[in-house]
Amino acid sequence: MGEHPGHYRDTFSYPPVPSHVWRQGALALTLLCLLLLIGLGVFGAICMEKLNKLQNFKEELQRNMSLQLMQNTNSSQKIRNLSIKLEEIATKLCRELYTKNKEHKCKPCPEEWMWHDDKCYLLHAYQRQETWQKSDEICSGYNASLLTIKSKSVLEFMKSLKLNNYWLRLSPRKDNTKYGNLDTIFPLNWFTRNTSVINDQMYCGYVYYANFYYIKCTETKNIICEKLAQPVKTESILMSEILDGRK
Ligand SMILES: *[C@@H]1O[C@H](CO)[C@@H](O)[C@H](O)[C@H]1NC(C)=O
Ligand SMILES: *[C@@H]1O[C@H](CO)[C@@H](O)[C@H](O)[C@H]1NC(C)=O
Ligand SMILES: *[C@@H]1O[C@H](CO)[C@@H](O)[C@H](O)[C@H]1NC(C)=O
Ligand SMILES: *[C@@H]1O[C@H](CO)[C@@H](O)[C@H](O)[C@H]1NC(C)=O
Ligand SMILES: *[C@@H]1O[C@H](CO)[C@@H](O)[C@H](O)[C@H]1NC(C)=O
Repeated sequence: MGEHPGHYRDTFSYPPVPSHVWRQGALALTLLCLLLLIGLGVFGAICMEKLNKLQNFKEELQRNMSLQLMQNTNSSQKIRNLSIKLEEIATKLCRELYTKNKEHKCKPCPEEWMWHDDKCYLLHAYQRQETWQKSDEICSGYNASLLTIKSKSVLEFMKSLKLNNYWLRLSPRKDNTKYGNLDTIFPLNWFTRNTSVINDQMYCGYVYYANFYYIKCTETKNIICEKLAQPVKTESILMSEILDGRK
């Protein structure tokens, strides 16, 4: 039935139709065309041509629909990308505001907790010293854990806090022969196992200004807890800026 679609000058612009209606219509039309072809020759040929055009139109519609589906996927990806970008900008802005006001509404940490990188830190009850085990429990009570120092950035931050006698979440050791400058702490193992395995024969790590040492876990030291910061809320920045503007 290879007719010449380009030959026929009529243009079609049908709205999309449900495919079962389409199929029935096409079938009826095919039959009609075949009858015409048999009965009337040239009119039948024109009819077949028209049918061919309809077929092409349907295929184009299907192509367009799958293209549109792809574009929808693209759009939702774009929206996701945009909200990630927005989150980054909000975080950046909040860091600026935080340097000026340590309790700015946008801070993604609870009140009194310090914010650094993606974590929050709390100096617990200044100079109220506890055993390592008890300190660990106190931090757990805040959904937090004892201090770890795993990056240069955190290292510098902790140096700036001048921590004297604060427990670290280092893995316990059998002796206290290991000690050193905080700069050399990175290769050491951090505690991940169930902390209830600590016993009174073990030595736990602590930070003393720019150094770390080990001492019996049953001795007492100060407590600094850490936990992950929440994402910065964009609204918290917008709201506060509006309020600041009124002052
Ligand atoms: C398919 O998309 C093209 C470009 O967007 C448009 O010109 C054409 O009319 C569409 N075809 C149908 C059948 O909707
Ligand atoms: C999807 O987005 C990418 C990048 O923005 C673009 O290069 C691509 O052409 C888009 N695809 C569609 C189907 O719109
Ligand atoms: C969204 O971001 C991802 C990763 O950054 C990128 O691969 C993708 O092309 C982006 N999509 C759009 C639509 O911009
Ligand atoms: C700790 O987390 C649990 C579960 O995520 C929550 O129910 C609880 O309120 C949190 N406690 C504190 C002190 O944040
Ligand atoms: C740790 O171990 C103790 C005793 O073996 C157990 O009661 C506790 O549930 C454990 N905690 C976790 C978080 O696995």
